Amino acid sequence: MIITLDGPAGAGKSSAARALARRLGWCYIDTGAMYRAVALAALERGITLEDSPRVAELAESIRIEFSNGAVLVDGRDVSTEIRTERITLATRPVADAPPVRDAMKKVQRRMAEGIDVVTEGRDQGSVVFPQAELKVFLTASAEERARRRHREEIDRGQSATLEAVLEAQSRRDDADRTRPVGAMLPADDAVVLETDGMSPEQVIDRLVALLEARRRMAGRTAGQS
Ligand code: DC
Repeated sequence: MIITLDGPAGAGKSSAARALARRLGWCYIDTGAMYRAVALAALERGITLEDSPRVAELAESIRIEFSNGAVLVDGRDVSTEIRTERITLATRPVADAPPVRDAMKKVQRRMAEGIDVVTEGRDQGSVVFPQAELKVFLTASAEERARRRHREEIDRGQSATLEAVLEAQSRRDDADRTRPVGAMLPADDAVVLETDGMSPEQVIDRLVALLEARRRMAGRTAGQS
């Protein structure tokens, strides 16, 4: 079974997807981390980020794994490195390139083969797993998302202003929304969940309720046939 969680940066997707997967005992795929891992691997090998055929080849040849909350590339823990500003910037041309997205789609489908997964990103419900049993587009207002991210940055000891966070976020939203292939958008059959004012626990409870409703519906349909 597959649950997709898509939506803009700062909507709380990662923590919701991770917690939901833990609660269900399912695997968790963080596709943003996968794009970041490919960008890091390209930089390390001296591959030009805009050389999309080579980056696509690289995306299919490296082994990306999620293990105990860590992201591994060919067995090496890159969890911290892929979250740096340098890699965030390097990921943009990688995620924009259609050949790379095509390669990632194959890798992501292979990863989910035969197992139950919660997969998180921008295009999981719309492009990669159109057959997913439950698709959720998780979002929140720009101000709420920026406030959450700003709080996280302050907790991490960084000193960005709320205005700067809001501006960077709006640039990322634009890039994600206007990407010619794999643009961030809710699948036609996705449930759009607006999380303004909801606690992380309330978001998880809502997701579990949606899943249970889906299962009941599937049970009824199966019973009818
Ligand atoms: O969610 P994140 O910030 O870790 O994502 C990193 C980058 O990858 C960001 O530029 C959006 C992009 N991305 C994408 O294009 N498609 C996905 N399925 C996931 C992430």
